[in-house]
Amino acid sequence: MKPFENTQSNYFPVVSILVFATLFFGFFCYNQYIKISPFPDFKPQEPFRESSNSTSIQLQETKKDDNGGSERSALPLEECDIFTGKWVFDNGSSHPLYKEEDCEFLTEMVTCLKNGRPDSLYQKWRWQPRDCSLPKFEAKLLLEKLRGKRLMFVGDSLNLNQMMSMVCMVQSMIPPKKKSFRYASYTMVFKMEDYNATIEFYWAPFLVESNTDPPTMRDGTVVPILKLESISEKGNNWKNVDYLIFNTYIWWRYPTMKVQRGSSDDGATDYVDVDQNVAYEAALKSWAKWVEENVDINRTSVFFSSMSPTHIKSSDWNNTNGIKCSNETTPILNMSTFDVGTNRQLFTTAVNVIRSMKIPVRFLNITRLSEYRKDAHTSIYAAPSGKLLTPEQKSDPARNADCLHWCLPGLPDAWNELLYTFIIHQT
Ligand SMILES: *[C@@H]1O[C@H](CO)[C@@H](O)[C@H](O)[C@H]1NC(C)=O
Ligand SMILES: *[C@@H]1O[C@H](CO)[C@@H](O)[C@H](O)[C@H]1NC(C)=O
Ligand SMILES: *[C@@H]1O[C@H](CO)[C@@H](O)[C@H](O)[C@H]1NC(C)=O
Ligand SMILES: *[C@@H]1O[C@H](CO)[C@@H](O)[C@H](O)[C@H]1NC(C)=O
Ligand SMILES: *[C@@H]1O[C@H](CO)[C@@H](O)[C@H](O)[C@H]1NC(C)=O
Ligand SMILES: *[C@@H]1O[C@H](CO)[C@@H](O)[C@H](O)[C@H]1NC(C)=O
Ligand SMILES: *[C@@H]1O[C@H](CO)[C@@H](O)[C@H](O)[C@H]1NC(C)=O
Ligand SMILES: *[C@@H]1O[C@H](CO)[C@@H](O)[C@H](O)[C@H]1NC(C)=O
Repeated sequence: MKPFENTQSNYFPVVSILVFATLFFGFFCYNQYIKISPFPDFKPQEPFRESSNSTSIQLQETKKDDNGGSERSALPLEECDIFTGKWVFDNGSSHPLYKEEDCEFLTEMVTCLKNGRPDSLYQKWRWQPRDCSLPKFEAKLLLEKLRGKRLMFVGDSLNLNQMMSMVCMVQSMIPPKKKSFRYASYTMVFKMEDYNATIEFYWAPFLVESNTDPPTMRDGTVVPILKLESISEKGNNWKNVDYLIFNTYIWWRYPTMKVQRGSSDDGATDYVDVDQNVAYEAALKSWAKWVEENVDINRTSVFFSSMSPTHIKSSDWNNTNGIKCSNETTPILNMSTFDVGTNRQLFTTAVNVIRSMKIPVRFLNITRLSEYRKDAHTSIYAAPSGKLLTPEQKSDPARNADCLHWCLPGLPDAWNELLYTFIIHQT
């Protein structure tokens, strides 16, 4: 691995644009693969419900008889599924957890308001589990938990999205000269000096090795060829970390994936086509084996984030006038069944691989709760390849809206509140 460049944090906004741009760009291209179909069944979108205090919308899974569906008991975490619940609009001060302009480490990739997004209510929703309440997020408490420790996100750009969120959630507690953000080709490291702690990201979009891992290959123009058996020397960078949060989904976008045959390193492009789900399972099994063989569970807590959904077809939520996620300003509030096209087969495969592991891995089941959040994507207020969209590009959301990544502050903060809940509950 390349050593870190000796970059001061004030270089960050300038140089990092390119790094983030490269990491995000591949997914931006993904949008171009999606065909926009005509929308035959138009229904007007449910209007936003205003309230002086708070508006709570029942999700489909919140029906529960034994407590009338309204009173929540304070169940211990072990007995409460914090991923089942509803989004609550809260116009008070509880959310967002930080202001966009107060987090110097955010880049134009995610600063939707600065990039011209006219509405900001997407920042005001909080996740409310059905059977218990989440603890209030306290950055100081998390920092105490992280003292002397490393927390690392490993995976694709959605995990980078979450890492940036986590940095912003704690960074205001650290004085200016005591924090820094450094990057190398595969890693980002946010360092908090006084705590001797880091929040890190490691780029591994498939977890297993692929030809699209190197920085020059991430622009989405190259069809990935995977080495399903191999974590390779990448895994060495994941050792001696205290909290590991893995994910992999968005790059598994072809019905069949190209898989390198044999283990020859002579640059040969001899590959076979393998069914997406078969390949996904094989990759996760290689990952699981690595975790079992290399993680010291006395030190390290391991998490796996389920897939972050996309909102590409507005007919999925009955908005036949819409174009992808553009112009969406509220979550999906009609809690009857809906389907935004998340690959359930891969979801189930991930659940099964994790259940069969010899060491405990916490499954962060963020998929369904994120599927409601059609309002939370960066859309045309992103900066693909490091540049904001031109007015002309903005006027063509079908081509240019990014409905994969999320504005910050925003949804990934909620993912981190869930992660936080597990971290502070550990002794
Ligand atoms: C909400 O779902 C119901 C079916 O459960 C449907 O009849 C209704 O049209 C939906 N509303 C909107 C705004 O799509
Ligand atoms: C909102 O306020 C109204 C009256 O001010 C009250 O009746 C209602 O219970 C409140 N709702 C919630 C969810 O607190
Ligand atoms: C994930 O959460 C959803 C609700 O958000 C729930 O319906 C589903 O059963 C959960 N899946 C797993 C594997 O925990
Ligand atoms: C939220 O509060 C602000 C100011 O307190 C107010 O201007 C705005 O109308 C409120 N929005 C909603 C949707 O209640
Ligand atoms: C800082 O944390 C690392 C582990 O992340 C540990 O190895 C090292 O001893 C700590 N240094 C101090 C001065 O506490
Ligand atoms: C973890 O701790 C347990 C009990 O303290 C001990 O028996 C076990 O050997 C430890 N495992 C490792 C890998 O250090
Ligand atoms: C869309 O409309 C169909 C048919 O009325 C309904 O079943 C479904 O729940 C609606 N979906 C959403 C997200 O409103
Ligand atoms: C989205 O909003 C813009 C500005 O409000 C408007 O010009 C455009 O027509 C809207 N597009 C759709 C598809 O609703």
